[in-house]
Amino acid sequence: MKQATAAAPGKIILFGEHAVVYGQPALAAPLGDLTAQAAVTESEAGSKLSIQADDLGLSLSLAEASSEGLSLAARLALDHCQCPEPDARIRVSSSIPVASGLGSGAATSAALIKALSAYLGCRLEPDQLSALVYEVEKLYHGTPSGIDNTVVCYEQPVFFIRGSEPVTFHIAQPFALVIGDTGIKTPTHVTVGAVRERWLKAPDELEEVFEEIGEITRQARQAIESGDVETLGPLMGKNQAHLQTLGVSSPELDTLIEAALSVGALGAKLSGGGGGGIMIALVTSGTSERVGQALDRAGAARVLRATISEG
Ligand code: MEV
Repeated sequence: MKQATAAAPGKIILFGEHAVVYGQPALAAPLGDLTAQAAVTESEAGSKLSIQADDLGLSLSLAEASSEGLSLAARLALDHCQCPEPDARIRVSSSIPVASGLGSGAATSAALIKALSAYLGCRLEPDQLSALVYEVEKLYHGTPSGIDNTVVCYEQPVFFIRGSEPVTFHIAQPFALVIGDTGIKTPTHVTVGAVRERWLKAPDELEEVFEEIGEITRQARQAIESGDVETLGPLMGKNQAHLQTLGVSSPELDTLIEAALSVGALGAKLSGGGGGGIMIALVTSGTSERVGQALDRAGAARVLRATISEG
């Protein structure tokens, strides 16, 4: 029986979220331990294409669901490969928490498009895959910067500026993060939309904040490239203060951030869209355990760990 499988990683934004929508740089990295997978299997003649995503409680045929993200992803793959709808079943699964800032939407679309194009015998380069996933991201987020699709499709750390070719950066010394999930699912378009409303009311004020976040992001890249991990902690604090000014932090995120800092994290900030979702704390091997426990005590719905390296 004809079959193809593919996977795509989640992502974590280290610095620069939201400002990246307005042309400033952001730093992000793939999360190899959290992945979305897709498997395409041939089905009986005449059955056409169906998509099943048990984690999302979704089961649909391509014909009946035109406005849904996974079905758009499948259509984009078929168009790109210039192939008619095959008789096949796509199963999608993911270990990436949904609507938490970990790139689950982009990773799921990427895994599906990769698996379906492989099934059709059509090879996609990362830039082509990323362009297709970006189309699906627009459905989910309205005005995405393109950072999520870029990281999950290139599967490399990126210094990303909207509209420019993605640039990877060197990680001189791997560093460890503890990720605290507030458990509050906030779709990215909600906080991106709220920032846009503020920007429309006070463009100069917000542009200044975005520029400062951009400067912090450039300094963070330099610190990461020279292995100066300790400098990253204070930079995370400064970035978080600006995210608070933008109104995208929340009491739950602030509580987790304070809990991590109070037991010795080198720095902490929200990551991704904010509102709810996740925060990240920079830790050493000596503080990792303590910080994880502090996040649990402070009410984190889930605590994850990640090492950021070149892979
Ligand atoms: C979402 O992962 C990151 C944001 O900056 C939105 C975007 O870049 O599209 C909040």
